[in-house]
Amino acid sequence: MKLAVTYNVKNEDSANADQASVSANAAKYINRNLVENYPERLDDTYAEWDSMETIDAIKSAFESAGHSVELIEGDEHAYEKLKSLKPEFVFNVAEGFNGASRESQIPSMLEMLGIPFTGSDSITIGICHDKSRCKEILSYYNIPNSKFFITDSPVKNDSGFKYPKFVKPLHEGSSKGIYDSSLVKNLEELNNEIARIKSSYRQPALVEDFIPGKEFTVAMLGNGDDLRVLPIVEINLDSVPEGFNKIYSYEVKWFFDTRENQLDIFKCPAEVEKSIYEHIEKVCKDTFNVLRIKDWARIDVRLDENNVPNIIEINPLPGILPDPADNSCYPKAARHAGMDYNAVLNAVLNEAVKRHSKE
Ligand SMILES: Nc1ncnc2c1ncn2[C@@H]1O[C@H](COP(=O)(O)OP(=O)(O)OP(=O)(O)O)[C@@H](O)[C@H]1O
Ligand SMILES: [Mg+2]
Repeated sequence: MKLAVTYNVKNEDSANADQASVSANAAKYINRNLVENYPERLDDTYAEWDSMETIDAIKSAFESAGHSVELIEGDEHAYEKLKSLKPEFVFNVAEGFNGASRESQIPSMLEMLGIPFTGSDSITIGICHDKSRCKEILSYYNIPNSKFFITDSPVKNDSGFKYPKFVKPLHEGSSKGIYDSSLVKNLEELNNEIARIKSSYRQPALVEDFIPGKEFTVAMLGNGDDLRVLPIVEINLDSVPEGFNKIYSYEVKWFFDTRENQLDIFKCPAEVEKSIYEHIEKVCKDTFNVLRIKDWARIDVRLDENNVPNIIEINPLPGILPDPADNSCYPKAARHAGMDYNAVLNAVLNEAVKRHSKE
């Protein structure tokens, strides 16, 4: 098949004034030792985008299955390139840029051009990227998720509030803006975080009840009756260094768990009672279906005080780092299901082709 891969690549060399201010802001909130020892990791501008190593690995996965593959960067030239190339199918991992609905940009172009592609359409991808809109839909269908509100101004009166609360940017991923300080225990901490998110990310903060229990991330593959839950990955929060909150924060993802120094952060399959395991599978399938997700996704879940799985957030474009030393959850879950990197990417493509043939 004549395939194109749409993507956005990290450009580590292009430091600019905006990035310098992101780093300066982050440095005020992140642990001082981390800031002094790893100043280069403060800048999260491109945290969501892929490295060229990942994009090349995706290309070679499809070439190894006999497809021809063109790479198309998800920028303002993508539309013209797709229009003249006319690929038969697109494997889309583009995160887009600018604005809350940036992940919808490439799907919208492909929809306009009538080119079929892997993954969710522009509506679903946009909704999942706005964590409050996504939670509103889950709540409508009675799918458990934490109580929340959004705000970009200080809270004046917190009487009746239940602490701790968790404060994060409304529409970011890859733990951008989710620091150890996101877990707040009083009004002063809460308002500091709301101000931090407004000044660093120019967006409202999502203030949620903190879900205290075990954490999981769940790789989904397929559609309809063929929807599969791959082996559930448990986030081993006991491996978070002493003195830091038990959350999968930016510090944990990008400072502590590195290729050179891997944290023992995952257990796969998750070590929980069968009934809880099955409950997580059910909640994730329901989530996938009510949001009309397509082909694949990775869903983050935490158990509440009653061991009920609550949805934390949904990634309709899951990270797919090829090197097992990079601790990427979707490929990890696939390996436990007997699919190596090339096999799982081709499985996603085949699910999309199968769906498209029925549409
Ligand atoms: N309401 C909550 N209660 C408890 N922990 C939370 C809550 N929201 C987020 N967290 C913690 O913060 C982490 C990051 O949050 P979240 O998954 O929303 O961010 P993200 O940037 O979209 O993640 P990803 O890297 O998966 O795209 C979670 O993995 C979890 O450890
Ligand atoms: Mg997450």
